[in-house]
Amino acid sequence: MAQLIKKIKGTEDILPRDSYKWQFIEKVLSEEARVFGFKEIRTPVFEQTGLFVRGVGEGTDVVQKEMYTFETKGGESLTLRPEGTAGAARALLEHSLTNDGLPIKANYFTTCYRYEKPQAGRQREFHQFGMEVYGADSPVADAELICAGASIFERLQLQDVRLEINSIGCPACRKEYHKALKEYFASHKETLCGTCNDRLEKNPMRILDCKSPICKEIAKDAPKIIDYLCEDCKDHFEKVKTYLEDAGVKYTVNPTIVRGLDYYTNTVFEFICDGIGAQSTVCGGGRYNGLIEELGGNPLPALGFAIGLERLLMVMDAQGIEIPKPEAPALYIAALGESAEREAFSIVNSLRQSGLEAHFDIVGRGLKAQMKYADKIGAKFTLVLGDNEIETQKAQLKNMQTSEKTDIRLGEHFNSDFFAALIESENAGNLF
Ligand code: HAM
Repeated sequence: MAQLIKKIKGTEDILPRDSYKWQFIEKVLSEEARVFGFKEIRTPVFEQTGLFVRGVGEGTDVVQKEMYTFETKGGESLTLRPEGTAGAARALLEHSLTNDGLPIKANYFTTCYRYEKPQAGRQREFHQFGMEVYGADSPVADAELICAGASIFERLQLQDVRLEINSIGCPACRKEYHKALKEYFASHKETLCGTCNDRLEKNPMRILDCKSPICKEIAKDAPKIIDYLCEDCKDHFEKVKTYLEDAGVKYTVNPTIVRGLDYYTNTVFEFICDGIGAQSTVCGGGRYNGLIEELGGNPLPALGFAIGLERLLMVMDAQGIEIPKPEAPALYIAALGESAEREAFSIVNSLRQSGLEAHFDIVGRGLKAQMKYADKIGAKFTLVLGDNEIETQKAQLKNMQTSEKTDIRLGEHFNSDFFAALIESENAGNLF
């Protein structure tokens, strides 16, 4: 036998028996996006490497260590997207979306790729749901976006979700902060890791999210950006907090949040849910007023967040939040013999055209095995068709829950309207 090929480390398969969970959260998230005025954007899985280097930032862990970058046959450097914000911003510029009227609100579901050490809640291929807003500078836009995140977690009935917010200011107030950080970290130069020593000159803020335990320990006592905000940034942050309070969204200010990507300015935030291990940030985001300009556009304020869908499902699972199971198949027809098989094929086709899930045997099993299969897939009704039923055009429809049998006439009588009405009456109240 040929050797089995296994999935790549850090990737997961979503199997048919579990995909309803994904479809459920995707439906809820899309619905929330719709009521907040967002429309879906879909961008390619790979982009020019330069987009992420410029967008996410050269000094970030994502760009320095985690990107899946490859060269095409034509010698072009491409990268599998490590996140969704840069691609959406690129598309906004490429298609002049701002002509559609501001603000632009776009949401997405994407796979992302980061070469990280896999662990619970941290994969090399993972899924994000993101919401991005372009063209809104007001602090009320920050509050509205954060409200959308809070509303999603509430809709999904997540318990104990903590919202932590911070402001990392604008480039002007960050200049002073960088000076203070450099001074502080320079006094620990010997103990910082090699990468952080490089960061010390170029972008000392990145030391704050280094994953090395020693650097983390040193970073604990580093100066906090919030103490260096200019008047405008301070004012913006105060207003965001007021709007959140007005909206009844609870938060704590965590002055250590700086986020791991370079594009952020002003408000940054995370939704954290304990109980799923070390990777407890389910959602991260913030304002990124400089990104559009960095990517070659006119200055345009922007903000957004992304939820890690694997982590979201882990939390729901850990908290025992039940995801509605898909509706059971309406009918399974056990058919024996060629004529019965043709009749079964015709019945299921007409039911399917009416939107009912119907099955019949396509693998050539005997009656007993067919009934066992019907049970396994949880069919609401079964119908056995053999030579006798075809000849008399009569058969018995069995309600699998009550075992009650109904005599039916095949042909015109047994059409999709009849069946839909039966399902409706038999299962009224049972449907979720
Ligand atoms: P991020 O914090 O890098 O931000 O990722 C957002 C979320 O994706 C995290 O909070 C986490 O739930 C999930 N996530 C990140 N890495 C992994 C991983 N290796 N395995 C599983 N889940 C992961 C961004 O990506 C920004 N683009 C968010 C944003 C949108 N900011 C503004 N707009």
